[in-house]
Amino acid sequence: MATRILFVCLGNICRSPTAEGVVRAVAARHYPRLALDVDSAGTANYHVGEPPDRRTVAAARRRGYDLSAHRARQVAVRDFAEFDHLLAMDAANLAELRRLAPARTRARLGMFLEFASATGGDEVPDPYYGSSEDFDRVLELCEAGAHGLLQEIAANHQ
Ligand code: 4NP
Repeated sequence: MATRILFVCLGNICRSPTAEGVVRAVAARHYPRLALDVDSAGTANYHVGEPPDRRTVAAARRRGYDLSAHRARQVAVRDFAEFDHLLAMDAANLAELRRLAPARTRARLGMFLEFASATGGDEVPDPYYGSSEDFDRVLELCEAGAHGLLQEIAANHQ
């Protein structure tokens, strides 16, 4: 059965769509036999229905990822039943997931960058009020996280 992963940030227009798109692309290229369902959502509803931030789309395009088809959605209670892992971009997102989680959820909640060694921290910092360098940094961190996460999942599936 496919491993189901939901990436979670605040608005679902910058960080978690990037994580989703990068993980999907890295998996297709390096782990073509790994069965994965990947999605993303935001803890807030500010941007529901919107495409990713244009700065996010541009940073992704510079590194060869196309995020243009994504539309933002908010985390829903059923996500805790439908995904095996809900992976937060920062500590505030993780705290909100813990608050929303049903008492007997089997989904595993954690930080995306727990899987990426040597990134110098466990958060993907919110770039929304930042510069284009901050958006490039989101891409770099998501690439590191994607490789670490997929290695771990592949190792557990052998
Ligand atoms: P994200 O970035 O959580 O990575 O999608 C943000 C998007 C929107 C806002 C903050 C962060 N906002 O305040 O609208």
